[in-house]
Order: sequence, then structure tokens, then C-alpha cells
Amino acid sequence: MPEPKRIGVLTGGGDSPGINAALRAIVRRARGLGMEVVGFRDGWRGVVEDDLVPLGPADVAGILPVGGTILGTSRTNPFQKDPATGSWTPTSKVDRILETLKRRGVDALVAIGGDDTLGVAHRLAPHGVRAVGIPQTIDNDIGGTDYAIGFHSALAVVTEALDRLHTTAHAHHRALIVEVMGRDAGWIAILGGLAGGADVILVPEEPFSVADVKRALERRLEAGRRFSIIVVAEGARAVELGSKPLAAETRVDAFGHPQLGGIGYWLAAELEKAGLPLTPRVTVLAYLQRGGVATPFDRLLATRFGIAAVELVREGKYDAMTALHGTAVVAVPLAEALAGCPKPVPQEFLELARNLGVR
Ligand code: F6P
Repeated sequence: MPEPKRIGVLTGGGDSPGINAALRAIVRRARGLGMEVVGFRDGWRGVVEDDLVPLGPADVAGILPVGGTILGTSRTNPFQKDPATGSWTPTSKVDRILETLKRRGVDALVAIGGDDTLGVAHRLAPHGVRAVGIPQTIDNDIGGTDYAIGFHSALAVVTEALDRLHTTAHAHHRALIVEVMGRDAGWIAILGGLAGGADVILVPEEPFSVADVKRALERRLEAGRRFSIIVVAEGARAVELGSKPLAAETRVDAFGHPQLGGIGYWLAAELEKAGLPLTPRVTVLAYLQRGGVATPFDRLLATRFGIAAVELVREGKYDAMTALHGTAVVAVPLAEALAGCPKPVPQEFLELARNLGVR
């Protein structure tokens, strides 16, 4: 197989700080090896619609710390779910992708995204598309890698928010509920909650009951702690809600995910109804967690992943994803990474919280 001359890059799914650092590394390394790079705008949409921009060193100058993605993102899905079998079947968009790649002479793709974006890259392999993946999502729920780009930056936001909220919770003797992202896995909630000293942490992995939360807060009151901080993942499941996340079932994206949100306000109302002797108030961190500058950890991880992705392309190791195992950057087959999605929070962290007396 001849070495690729032209690499196409795309960024899909929810954005996160660090994506631009990966783009910068890809362009620099590829150029150093004599390969050209083009960027497709807005994830898979850009490939379907042949919407691309050349990416040279000048285009990626100064973007190392900048959040978001200079290429834009979308949740465009060139496959659709077969209702009978539940498997993904190609739509006409797949043909358009193949046409774009041929017309533009793009030999290989680097897809930067979460399980949806990377899943498309994997499903395109049997159609002859040569792609490698880079994991990015603040949710950190991609299998096969210890960390995805963006998670560390989101943790920094949550930790700072909890530090700030502590002072007002303490002054007003309130139960402050902080809703964080985390659709299927509670990585942001558990590690952000631990780093920010939360008293109750609710993750999708372990359903909770309002009565349990109320008891935990009352125990703190009895011990003379007249305020509490509760961190709840958007995908947390209350037994009173049938152990299902609170979702707007009418707002579903192209990958079949309903929009989540509202569990924080729901919990506040339930605690008030149940007669909690503290005033609950809610802060929803939402997109603040995905914005802003990338932490040094994410800049370095993204830079290493970007360089590694170009190496994978050079070596012809397609249908694979860059991954962090301990401190080493390695390659894992996309099939393996996707089979491990959504990657749950390890029991060790949940146990750590319990050992600290956190519900
Ligand atoms: O990036 C992942 C994520 O932040 C999830 O936690 C969340 O459910 C989802 O994206 C929401 O994204 P959007 O509102 O942009 O579709």
C-alpha cells in the first residue's frame, strides 16, 4: 500500500478543549513527513457535502490552548439504524463520502470524536475508507483508553465551580445541587466531585433514591455540617423515575440519543417536598464544562494523540484508535474501543468516595 499523500481530518460530536491541539500536531507532523492535510468542516457533514479547507502550519498557528474546534463539529450520521435488527445500515451519504474522498484525492482520514464519530469511521472500513481515530469527549466514556481528550479540562471547570459554590453553600446553609455532564458514565461527577469535596455524588452507574440522598444530608446536619454539596451527573438514575435518566424523549440526535437534563432541578424539588431542613438550590454547569482553554494535560495528550495518529496512517494501521494506557500512547482496534463503550467509572473510584464518607 503506497504511503498516503493527503490526509483528511474531521472533528465530530460534542466539542472539548484539546481538539485544536490535536489538529495542530497532525498538521505539523504530516507536513514534516511530506503529507498534505485537509480539514473537513463540521464532522462527517463536511465529508458528505465535500466541504473542506486546506490545513497548513499557518492555519494551526496559535490554536494550541484554544477550546472548541477550528473545523466545527456536528452529529451528522451517514448510517441509519435498522429498526428490525438494531444494526446500522448505510444511507446514500456513505456513497457521497466515497465520492468526496476520491474526488479530493484523500487517501486516509483522521476522525477525532466520541463513540458516535469513531463508530462511523469503523463502519466505513468495509466500504474501503482508511481511517484512524482519536478519542475526545469530556464524558471520558470511550473504551480502550484511560483518558479521552477534554475530560481533564472539564474536571478543572467542575472543581473550580465546586470550590466557588462551597463558600456560598456554607454562608447560606444550603444544599447546593450541581448538575454536570455524563450521559452514560459518571466520570465527571465522581472525579470532579471528589476533587471539589462534594458530600453526595450521583452517577449513572448506581441508581439512587431521594430518601437516600435526604438521609445523607440529614446525617451531615446532625454532625453539625449545616450545608451540603451534591454533584449529580445528567444521566443519573433515580429509582423514583424507574431508574432511567431524565430525558427529553422528543429531542433525539442522529445517533438516537435523547437530550438529557433536568435531574438537578427534579432532585431539588423532591428534596423540598420530602421536607429536607435545608434550602436546595441548583447550578447546571452544562456547556461551561466543554468550553475554555485546554489544561496542560489535555494539550499534551492531544499533541501525543495527533502525532501517533499520523504514525498510524504512515504505517497503514487503519481502523484503529490512539489510546492512553497508563503513561503510554498505544493503538487499539476501533472495534475493541467501541465494544467498551460506554466505559463505566471503575468501582475503585466509587469505593474511594464511600471510604471518604461521601454518599
Ligand atoms: O460531549 C458529550 C456530551 O457533553 C454529553 O455529556 C451530553 O449529554 C451531550 O454531549 C450534549 O451535547 P449537545 O447538547 O451538544 O448535543
